Amino acid sequence: MIVCSCNALNEVQVREIARTGVRCEREAYARLGCRPQCGQCLPFARQVVQEEHGQMELVSAA
Ligand code: FES
Repeated sequence: MIVCSCNALNEVQVREIARTGVRCEREAYARLGCRPQCGQCLPFARQVVQEEHGQMELVSAA
């Protein structure tokens, strides 16, 4: 699924970069070499990053 159409970022890219320890969607975009433009994608990008952090916590707690 496309997360950000302005920067052509898909969900896989955002999930992969979130797993490297980025703390927020803006940091994820920066690590992917771009930055938010229109901002429409930010709520979904934030959700994706938070979901990956939740998965990391589950794995580390197991
Ligand atoms: S859709 Fe991501 S900045 Fe516009």
